[in-house]
Amino acid sequence: MPPATLRRSGRNLLLGPRSGGSAAGCKIRRGVPPRFEAMTESVTQLTLRINGEDHRVVFPTHHTLLEVLREECGLTGTKHGCELGECGSCAVLVDGRPVLSCLALAAEMEGREIETVEGLQQGNDLHPLQTTFADLGAAQCGYCTPGILMTAKALLAENASPTAPEIREALAGTLCRCTGYHKIVEAVEGAAALERGEEWTAPREVLYGSSLPSSESESS
Ligand code: FES
Ligand code: FES
Repeated sequence: MPPATLRRSGRNLLLGPRSGGSAAGCKIRRGVPPRFEAMTESVTQLTLRINGEDHRVVFPTHHTLLEVLREECGLTGTKHGCELGECGSCAVLVDGRPVLSCLALAAEMEGREIETVEGLQQGNDLHPLQTTFADLGAAQCGYCTPGILMTAKALLAENASPTAPEIREALAGTLCRCTGYHKIVEAVEGAAALERGEEWTAPREVLYGSSLPSSESESS
């Protein structure tokens, strides 16, 4: 089963059930509410464990893990998308489980093992997911890719031979505007095969295109 964090809408997690209140019932307040003024004055200093390294960071206490990763640690591989828990582009692993870093407070992350896309490659060796995503064209503009790679890594840690429906379900919380998802699912299947120690090569039509029906019949 995919982690609940990504299966449920982050908007719902953040805002709770929609109320039946009407716009007429809303009061517009001007200025910063006192509660938030107090938050902006508060600063947190702690050590984050990211990709096996300690990072001593100081940040406004209300900042999210996404903000601290990108702005304090310089780890900009984790992408900043909707900030509402809807797109999945900010997913990182916390203690091995996918977490939407735009909805997680960095102040709560001390002592946790955080993994970002920067930690996937080991020396000059790409992670099998990086290899298959590159070979199959499963990353196009690449904006969704870090979140998808980290979510897929967590899936493969739990399930070494996921079926295509299981992969689709695990990745259901991550949106991609470019690929149509088919190549992403194939790439995760390929990475699973590589991690199991099996031979895997990209399908021929991915590398060379598929033959026209007429040329196939001529050659036979
Ligand atoms: S879900 Fe976090 S930026 Fe979209
Ligand atoms: S590759 Fe462009 S959004 Fe997924």
